Amino acid sequence: MLFRGAVFDLDGVIVCTDKYHFLAWKELADREGIYFDEKINERLRGVSRMQSLEIILERAGRAYTEEEKNRMAEEKNSRYRELIAGITPAELLPGVLSLFDFLKKKGIGIALGSSSKNAKPILGSLGIADRFDAVVDGNDIQRSKPDPQVFSLAAERLGLPADECFVFEDAEGWLLAGKRAGMKTAAVGAAGGGPLADYSLRDLADARVYDIFA
Ligand code: BG6
Ligand code: MG
Repeated sequence: MLFRGAVFDLDGVIVCTDKYHFLAWKELADREGIYFDEKINERLRGVSRMQSLEIILERAGRAYTEEEKNRMAEEKNSRYRELIAGITPAELLPGVLSLFDFLKKKGIGIALGSSSKNAKPILGSLGIADRFDAVVDGNDIQRSKPDPQVFSLAAERLGLPADECFVFEDAEGWLLAGKRAGMKTAAVGAAGGGPLADYSLRDLADARVYDIFA
């Protein structure tokens, strides 16, 4: 099978923003006296901002109103924006640029499929915004992963049928979104090799990534 499109998740595949999400949530949780640690943070991988807050509030000692939740999510986001403002191209994960160069040479479309509403400024800080033929982020979708919307829209914007696209995703559960979109999937790094992964890669510097598009 010849693949003509590659759709990349952002956090955990192209750059590790988990630590910034963690710091911003942690400050908020500490202020509210809610227990939050890195293990709970793992559950936030690929999960939308409001759903992430709901997970953190599972440990809260009281119920929060919708208004309070919106305010907390906004506070977290402005802190997160401060933290990611300092991102530089040095934070690109291994193999990203070489793979993008290779895909470009082969005429394979490059798309982003991220749940983050902050994806565009992050691509800008990483210096790779102009490498993408299509960008789909949290602002474009109504339904979060594992719904296939983010990846289906990425294929649509590449002008390709879903089954000619390959998804790169670090959250094992969200490989399901790629499968539901009708795509082949590569589990990157943390995702490991579960049953939903057609390929399992250490990171994008893993030489096997080139077999996919050979
Ligand atoms: C995903 C992250 O990419 O984006 C999640 O893995 C995060 O941890 C989600 O909650 C939403 O991000 P943002 O930037 O819209 O708050
Ligand atoms: Mg991710």
